[in-house]
Amino acid sequence: MRKKIVAGNWKMNKNPFEAIEIAKKLKNEIKNNNDSETIIFVPSIDLFCVSEILKASQIKIGAQNFYFENNGAYTGEISAQMLKETGINYALVGHSERRILFGENDEMINKKIARALEHQITPVLCVGENLQQRENNLTTEFIRMQIKSALKNIKLKNAGKIIIAYEPIWAIGTGKTADKNQAQEICYEIRKVLGEIYNLNLASQIRILYGGSVNLKNADELFEMQDIDGGLIGGASLKEDFISIANNICKTNFADMEIHV
Ligand code: PGA
Repeated sequence: MRKKIVAGNWKMNKNPFEAIEIAKKLKNEIKNNNDSETIIFVPSIDLFCVSEILKASQIKIGAQNFYFENNGAYTGEISAQMLKETGINYALVGHSERRILFGENDEMINKKIARALEHQITPVLCVGENLQQRENNLTTEFIRMQIKSALKNIKLKNAGKIIIAYEPIWAIGTGKTADKNQAQEICYEIRKVLGEIYNLNLASQIRILYGGSVNLKNADELFEMQDIDGGLIGGASLKEDFISIANNICKTNFADMEIHV
């Protein structure tokens, strides 16, 4: 059975002083359990201090971004190697805000996935369609293309470590959530394409998260769906809601997650 994940994406919020306070609160209030994982993706400047606070806890820390080279003349960037050396084991790759606002393309995202895996960092690959693509019935085709290009030349033995987050762009930060069936349909398609690229066994093991206006009210019904293994949560990750979502997920009895591709 796949372990559920509640992941928070703080985006460009919270300086290190504020981050330390939040990390202490999360450490005190999120209950330890063996049935789910909690990961927080914090701004680069907070990574070190937050990891010091959380090092003895079950909460994991991830970076929101890194560059695909190991070191060199890349002003303003940090590398996967630097993250690993700082004890960071997770990183978001290909979030739609990075694709849209910072021009990250599929080729760069593919290089980042390869580099993260080389340094034993678990990449959380974000994919998702925009409203126009959804309205033109292009969602499935587009998501399949995003997955295939991000995983190009990524070997089977490494692919199992990847986590995927399906985040429809029209649902991010808008308060419009994909309903549970829409989200399930695409997460199922993602599992299907993973089965085609690799095999069914691997496809049944990879965790697929839903992201886009997840909150305390809608989290449970989304996370109960067969192919949704948790959430990547933006806005609500900076509220008390995040703690409740993380604590609730271990109480819910999820049906056996069988592969059905
Ligand atoms: P949201 O953001 O929960 O605020 O919609 C999700 C994300 O961008 O990862």
